[in-house]
Amino acid sequence: MRVIMLAPPGAGKGTQGERIAARYAVPHISSGEIFRDEVTRQTPLGKQLSGYLERGDLVPDDLVLRLIRDRVVAAAEQSGGYVLDGFPRTLEQAEAAAGIGRETNTSAQAVVYLDAAADVLIGRLTGRAENRADDSEAVARHRLEVYAEHTQPLVDYYSARGILVKIDAAAPVDVVSEQIFAALDRVKRR
Ligand code: AP5
Repeated sequence: MRVIMLAPPGAGKGTQGERIAARYAVPHISSGEIFRDEVTRQTPLGKQLSGYLERGDLVPDDLVLRLIRDRVVAAAEQSGGYVLDGFPRTLEQAEAAAGIGRETNTSAQAVVYLDAAADVLIGRLTGRAENRADDSEAVARHRLEVYAEHTQPLVDYYSARGILVKIDAAAPVDVVSEQIFAALDRVKRR
């Protein structure tokens, strides 16, 4: 199973991405987690990333690809699948992901688009138990604006390619999972 999660901050990419990965036994690759790990370990790349993450701005595409590309290729080649959570997030990244898919014959089979209203998303982000540094209301609102400008256009991009699966992410976690699994099981049977 090869899945891309496409959703605004707080919609449940991480929560549902883990569940999809467990159900279909494929690696869960979260760009945000990879970046936060670099920042925590204070690596040279982490020092370049920290400002973007703190502000809620997108990390530049070239830097994203340096950190993500090899992991996607390895996951696709070693386990035949992946759940990409947080990547791609711009049209340039989507084109890069499509290129990786073509080169390794592992193009995404489905893009799970989790949709929920902004007030629901802000409530989840500001109330998150882990209390992430970028979850203050001001930064959360900025992340939603960044999403609307740079990532929302990917909904049309993947819809035009016939692989978009839209899910109501305002529903309870288990209901969202059931809807996703039902849709992905149909994709798998094709
Ligand atoms: P990233 O880590 O990807 O953060 P995000 O997109 O802002 O998403 P979140 O992790 O906040 O939310 P989520 O959708 O995963 O929801 P979650 O399951 O956690 O990116 C962080 C930063 O890294 C970016 O701002 C950017 O700077 C950089 N970055 C990352 N990738 C990049 C890229 N490709 N290009 C450039 N820059 C990049 O759930 C949120 C909360 O809601 C949790 O508390 C959860 O328990 C709860 N919840 C989830 N589902 C439900 C539900 N159905 N009902 C009730 N509560 C729920």
